Amino acid sequence: MPQSAAKPFIDVLSGQQHTVPPIWMMRQAGRYLPEYREVRAKAGGFLDLCFNPELAAEVTLQPIRRFGFDAAIIFSDILVIPYALGRSVRFEVGEGPRLEPLDAPSKVATAASRADFGTLEPVYEALKIVRGALDPKIALIGFCGAPWTVATYMVAGHGTSDQAPARTMAYQHPEAFAKIIDVLVENSIDYLLAQLDAGADALQIFDTWAGVLPPAEFARWSTEPTRRIVEGVRAKMPDAKIIGFPRGAGAQLPGYVEATGVNAVSIDWTAEPAFIRERVQSKVAVQGNLDPLALVTGGSVLDRAVDNVLANFAQGPFIFNLGHGIQPETPIAHVEQMLKRVRGCQDNPMHSTNH
Ligand code: CP3
Repeated sequence: MPQSAAKPFIDVLSGQQHTVPPIWMMRQAGRYLPEYREVRAKAGGFLDLCFNPELAAEVTLQPIRRFGFDAAIIFSDILVIPYALGRSVRFEVGEGPRLEPLDAPSKVATAASRADFGTLEPVYEALKIVRGALDPKIALIGFCGAPWTVATYMVAGHGTSDQAPARTMAYQHPEAFAKIIDVLVENSIDYLLAQLDAGADALQIFDTWAGVLPPAEFARWSTEPTRRIVEGVRAKMPDAKIIGFPRGAGAQLPGYVEATGVNAVSIDWTAEPAFIRERVQSKVAVQGNLDPLALVTGGSVLDRAVDNVLANFAQGPFIFNLGHGIQPETPIAHVEQMLKRVRGCQDNPMHSTNH
C-alpha cells in the first residue's frame, strides 16, 4: 500500500484497518494543557483566540507537539457560524456560550440567511499555517456543528441539558425552525468547502445534542440536514472525507450512516460494541469511544478501559478517540498513559491478537 503510508488517519477513513489505530482526542486543544491556558490568557476573549490565526494555529499544534497525535483539529468553535450570521455570541467564563435567543418566527423572518464569510477568514488562515507546520503524516481536521446542535444554542441562547427550547420550537413552529436549519445547512457547506480549500484533510460534523430527539425528529433534524451537508460538500469535492458525530444516536446510528454517506462515525461511550461492529463498522470506519472520566481516573481503570475499546473495535477500520471531549481536569500523565497503551506493543496484550 504505497500511498497508505502517507496518513494513517485518512487511510482508515478510506476503510483500511491499521494494527495500531490512529489516535486523537476531541477537544485536544484546551484547558487541560497549561500551554493552552497561557495562550488563552493573553488572547483576551475566547472568540478573539478563535479569530487570531497565529494563536489559533499555535493552540492547534500544542497537543501534536506534546503527544504526537495522528490528527490535529483546527482550533475554533461550532458557534462561529451563528456569529458570522450576525447573531450576538459571547462566551462567559465558567458558564459557556450566551447568544441572543432566536426563539420566535418573527425573529427568524428578519434574521440573516447568509453568513459574512469575511469574519471566518482567520479560521482559513489558521488552517493554512497549521498545514504548513504539520508533518505530512498527520491529518488536519476541519469541522462545523451539525445544524440541529448549532440551532439548539441559537434558539435557547445558551446550553441546556435536554434542549427543550429547540425541541419545543421545532414542534410549535416547524416552518420557522426549518428555516434556521436550512440557513445552517447552506452556510455550513460553504464553510466546510473553504476549510478543505485552506488545507483541511478531513471534516467532522459535531451533533452533540442529536441524542435528545425522538426517532422521527432525529431523522428530520439530525440525519437529513447532515445528509444535505455531505451531499453539498461532495458536489464540489467528491472525495471529501467526512466524520459524523451524532452523540447519543444509539439504535439510530445504522440509519444515520446509510442516509448521510459519512466515511466514519464517532461513537460515544454508551455505544453497544457488538451492535456497532455488526451494524456500523461493517459499513464505515468507527471512531471513539473511551469514557473521558476513565481518562480522568487513570491507573488500572484507564488501562482496562483502553483495552476494552481496542478489543471492541480495533479488528476493523478504527480511530482511537474519546466518547466526547476531554475534561479540563484530566491529568496530562493520563493522556500519556493512554497513548502508550494504544501504541506501545509490549505491555498491551491487545496488539498480539491484532495481526
Ligand atoms: O477539539 C478541539 O480541540 C478543537 C476546538 C473545539 C472547541 N469547541 C474549542 C472550545 C471544538 C471542535 C469545539 C466544538 C464544540 N463547541 C461543540 C461540539 C463538540 C462538543 O464538545 O460537544 C460544542 C457543543 C461547542 C459549543 C461550546 N463551546 C460550548 C458548550 C462551550 C463551553 C463549554 C466549555 O467546554 O467551556 C464552548 C467553549 C469552548 N470551545 C472551549 C474550547 C477550548 C472552552 C473555552 C475556553 O477555553 O475558555
